[in-house]
Amino acid sequence: MAKLPKLSEHQGVVIEVDGASIGVVNPQGKIKTLSTVCPHAACDVEWNDSEKTWDCPCHGSRFKADGSLLQGPAVRGLDPVKAEIEGDQITLKK
Ligand code: FES
Repeated sequence: MAKLPKLSEHQGVVIEVDGASIGVVNPQGKIKTLSTVCPHAACDVEWNDSEKTWDCPCHGSRFKADGSLLQGPAVRGLDPVKAEIEGDQITLKK
């Protein structure tokens, strides 16, 4: 369980929940939780606040805020992460 930061629309952040890093983003007024593991070679993506994208520092893959693929070399988007949000608390679901 972790405290969910307040996110305005089109804002993302990486947080630690239960020992795991996850991406939390608010692409269209609804919170979405994503894996931060790049599907190309498993580097951790970072939130790019000026472009509103998830960017991989290793080989340049980029993903839209909702995790879908924007630019390779990755060939698919970021995996969704199942999480439960209650108030300002977030818990990972198995
Ligand atoms: S590990 Fe992300 S682009 Fe290669």
